[in-house]
Amino acid sequence: MADIQEILDQVEQLPHDWHICGSMSKQCLRAIVRLAGGRKIHHSVETGSGKTTLLFSHLSEDHKVFSLNDFAGAVNGSISCVKDSPLFNGATVEWIEGPTQRTLPKYEFQHKLQLALIDGPHGYPFPDMEYYYLYPHLDEGALLIVDDIHIATIGHLFDFLKEDDMFRLLEVVDKTAFFERTAAPLFDPYMDGWWQQNYNTRRFSTENTSDASAPRVAPYRGNVMKRAENLIWGPVRRRLRQMIPKSR
Ligand SMILES: C[S@@+](CC[C@H](N)C(=O)[O-])C[C@H]1O[C@@H](n2cnc3c(N)ncnc32)[C@H](O)[C@@H]1O
Repeated sequence: MADIQEILDQVEQLPHDWHICGSMSKQCLRAIVRLAGGRKIHHSVETGSGKTTLLFSHLSEDHKVFSLNDFAGAVNGSISCVKDSPLFNGATVEWIEGPTQRTLPKYEFQHKLQLALIDGPHGYPFPDMEYYYLYPHLDEGALLIVDDIHIATIGHLFDFLKEDDMFRLLEVVDKTAFFERTAAPLFDPYMDGWWQQNYNTRRFSTENTSDASAPRVAPYRGNVMKRAENLIWGPVRRRLRQMIPKSR
């Protein structure tokens, strides 16, 4: 197996514009090796591709890359330059080529992920969309790396994650945030539940709102139907109660 420090040294020598989409800084590449190198990465994913793919091809036993080599006919080379590089370990990598907006929603992950990097399309809401399709698959202790948090909408995702129970911020290097998945239960991707998320509850003021519309964050101890009702946001719940006559 190749020495990851040697690979890192050589990846660092590649020019910043090795492909025209731009690459992570040397400090970030080093941080990836430092934080991921000490973990067992059986399965991992990144959106976008480039120097990071060269590193992950050595750090992970099974790395999936959701990326594009060209936009609307204009070649950016971020896949071909990786595939052509002598630093690339193709044996561990699966390419899922195409817009993540199309490929991620239909991809069926078979394993928990120990690492995910979000660095594909940067326009809103694409990183959020990628987060949605990736977070349910993150293993406890997994690294979640979010690049370009200086972009306002990605900064917002960063702010949200910093406060979420499912993640612990390990560090920020340059414009890249490194989180670790905690043991907190998975936030159900098919329900609502905005009132259970720290980022919302900490900012939700009940001062100018009637009590009736306040989020219900206390655990409910009643029967199952009541508990199910409790999962519906207050105003919607009340509207439903008006529409459905009480049978109990
Ligand atoms: C900033 S580059 C990634 C750089 C890479 N992580 C590195 O450090 O070398 C952004 C990547 O996202 C890819 N990309 C842009 N829009 C995309 C889309 N809609 N779907 C998938 N990949 C996309 C680009 O082709 C490029 O590979």
